[in-house]
Amino acid sequence: VRRRKELAGRRARALSVIEELEGILATPIERLRLIADEMVEEMQRGLTSDQSGSSLKMILSYVDKLPTGDEKGLFYALDLGGTNFRVLRVQLGGREARLVKQEYEEVSIPPHIMVGGSIELFDFIASALANFVATEGEDFHLPEGRQRELGFTFSFPVKQTSISSGNLIKWTKGFSIEDTVGKDVVAELTKAMERQGLDMRVTALVNDTIGTLAGGRYGDQDVVAAVILGTGTNAAYAEHANAIPKWDGLLPSSGEMVINMEWGNFRSKDLPITDYDRSLDFESLNPGEQIYEKMISGMYLGEIVRRVLLRIAQEASIFGEIVPPRLEIPFILRTPHMSAMHHDTSPDLKIVAAKLKDVLGIVNIPLQTRKMVVGICDIVAKRGARLAAAGIYGILKKLGRDNVQTEKQKTVIAMDGGLYEHYSIFSECLADTLRELLGEEASSSVVIKLANDGSGIGAALLAASHSQYLGFDES
Ligand code: GLC
Repeated sequence: VRRRKELAGRRARALSVIEELEGILATPIERLRLIADEMVEEMQRGLTSDQSGSSLKMILSYVDKLPTGDEKGLFYALDLGGTNFRVLRVQLGGREARLVKQEYEEVSIPPHIMVGGSIELFDFIASALANFVATEGEDFHLPEGRQRELGFTFSFPVKQTSISSGNLIKWTKGFSIEDTVGKDVVAELTKAMERQGLDMRVTALVNDTIGTLAGGRYGDQDVVAAVILGTGTNAAYAEHANAIPKWDGLLPSSGEMVINMEWGNFRSKDLPITDYDRSLDFESLNPGEQIYEKMISGMYLGEIVRRVLLRIAQEASIFGEIVPPRLEIPFILRTPHMSAMHHDTSPDLKIVAAKLKDVLGIVNIPLQTRKMVVGICDIVAKRGARLAAAGIYGILKKLGRDNVQTEKQKTVIAMDGGLYEHYSIFSECLADTLRELLGEEASSSVVIKLANDGSGIGAALLAASHSQYLGFDES
C-alpha cells in the first residue's frame, strides 16, 4: 500500500510540473500577434542602421536580382551550415532546358572540426570539394579556357561586403572556431582551394536563406521569402530597396534587395522564456545569443525536452529512485528522437519505450509515464512551431501581404530544413497557426512550399548570374 501511495505521489508531482510547463510555454494567439508586431519593429530598426541595437541584423545580401531562368553553364555550389555539408554541380541550360543535370555529395563534418581551427575547417571542405570536382563526368561542360565557378552557401551571420565577399560576424549552432570570426570566409576558402591545387573562383557568397529564396524563385515567381527550419532557423525576403535606409549604394534597377534577417537572434519581451531556456542558453556555446533559435530549431528542441525530463526525474523520481545518468548528458536526446516519440501512434507507445531505453538507458517505464513524455514533446514542439509561425506572420505584415489580396496575388514562402521536412506535427502546427493568424480568407493566398535543397541550387544559380564571364557567349 505504501509503495502504491508513493507512486501515486510521484505521478502527481510529475503532473504538476507538466501542468506548470504548459502554462509557462503557452503561446496564446494574442501573444503571437504581439511577437509578430515586435518582429516588424525590429526589422525596421535593423534596416535603419547597423548601430540601431536591433536584435535583427537585417543583412544586405547584395543580391538585387533573383534568378530568371536564363542562367546557363556549369556551376558548383558548396553548402556549409549544419552537421553535414554538401557539394553540388549543376548544368544549367537556359530558359528552355533549365536544370539539365545535377549531382551532389554529402559529407558529414567530424565534431572536432566544428570546434577546432579555421585552417582545418577550410582545408577539410576544400579537400572534399576537390575530390568531388575530380569526379566530373562528360555530361558537364565547361567552355575551353574558363575557370570553374562556385556559389558558396555559408549559413552563419556574415557581414557581406559584396556579392562574393563577407566577414563572419559570429558562429552559431554547433560551430565555434575563434580564429575565423571577423575574417572574409571567401578569402579563407580561396586560400584552402589553392592549397588543394583547385582552380576555382567563388562568384557568390550566400546564406542558406538567400540560396533557398533564389532556388525558390527560379521555380516559382511568386516566392517572396524563404525560411529555414533545420539545425538553426532563419529567414530572408526581398525588400524594396527604398525601404532600406542603411543601404547607401545605388538603387538597383530591380528596385529590390534581398535581406538576410538572421531572425534566430530575435528577442522580444513577449517570448515565453523559461528557466529551461535560460539554463540551456547559459550552458550553450553562445550564451545570450540566438534566443529565438534556441526555442524553435532542431538543434535545441530535443535538448529542451531532456531538461524537462531531468527536472521531473529529480523532483518526482518518475524514472525510479536514482536519476538515470544518461539523462544528465547535454544534447543526448536529439530532435529526431523526440520527433519519433512524438509521432508514436502504437497503443502501448513502443517507440517511446524504445527511445527511452536506447537513448537514455531508461527501462520498464509504465504506459502512463510514456504518455507524459509524449505530452512534454507536444508542449515543446508546439511552442517552437507557433513562434516560427508568428515570425512568418511578421514578415508578411512587413510586406503588406497579411491582408486579403485584391488582385488574387499569391504569396509563396520557400521553406527548407530537416525540422520542417521531417517533423510533421511541428510543420502542421506551424501551418495551422499561420492560418489562425492570417484568418481564413487572407491565408488562402499564402502558400508554404517545401524547397528541398533549394539552397544549393540557388547558390549555383547566383554563382551563374554573377559569373565573371557574364556577357560572353555561352557555348
Ligand atoms: C543560424 C545561422 C543562419 C542560418 C540559420 C539556418 O541561425 O546563424 O545564418 O541561416 O542558422 O541554417
